[in-house]
Amino acid sequence: MMKKIINGLSVFLSGNNESNVIVFVHGFPFDHIMWQAQVEKLSKEYLCVDYDIRGLGESTVGDGQFTMEMFVDDLEKIIDELKLSRPVLCGLSMGGYISLRAVERMQEKFSALILSDTKSSADDNEGKLKRAAAIKQINLGEFDSFIESFVLNCFGEKFVNENNSEYRKVVERSKKNNPLGVKGCLLAMVGRTDTTGNLPKIKLPTLIICGSEDKLTPPSVMKPMAEQIPNSEFVLVNNAGHMTPIEYPQVVSRAIKDFLKKNGI
Ligand code: MLT
Repeated sequence: MMKKIINGLSVFLSGNNESNVIVFVHGFPFDHIMWQAQVEKLSKEYLCVDYDIRGLGESTVGDGQFTMEMFVDDLEKIIDELKLSRPVLCGLSMGGYISLRAVERMQEKFSALILSDTKSSADDNEGKLKRAAAIKQINLGEFDSFIESFVLNCFGEKFVNENNSEYRKVVERSKKNNPLGVKGCLLAMVGRTDTTGNLPKIKLPTLIICGSEDKLTPPSVMKPMAEQIPNSEFVLVNNAGHMTPIEYPQVVSRAIKDFLKKNGI
């Protein structure tokens, strides 16, 4: 594995097949480690590029003032700087918001799209108020309890009960994030646009992955999204919550590999 700093972001490269590249974009409030199992498996055949989104993990926090457009600019900069030729783009949740907007802005830069546990709609009023409440909670010095409750909601019950030490590791890692960076991400998410109108225009082969028990972006939200993307395939991961790549790593890696092979990638 090789690490590079691009535009203040920590970027990790694994594998050496430079003609077949997958760029992984993680969710909130996690970091690149979220995709570790898939990177380990797929780097045998692909060059896997994962990175910490601005404000999270090892990446720069700066002034903590982020927009979704900045996150997409960061992704574009990484692709250009590394001279990646039409990589596969794979994002979960907030990483999916970034991916959906990136594809709306520049789908010609990619060869395929993988969307895991995410949605194209923007925050509704209830969602916006939840973000405001989260920022207030963090400002009151309750960062750790915000992380505890947010991350708990992300995982399926089965994983929390049966893989508790793995689950705790994710929680503790998330608590290491800088609260300013976490608040910046909340503001970027609350200010993001709705990308639903672009779904029918996506020409890329697209894989949609969804945990059957996902409370944040459930199958009832993701299935209609898949139906609007012309060349898409929907995979349901049974018993998984929102964090399918961590909860069922082999199922997700296999689904990605099968999808890429089927599309000649
Ligand atoms: C994520 O997993 O990235 C977040 O749940 C996204 C969100 O809060 O909308």
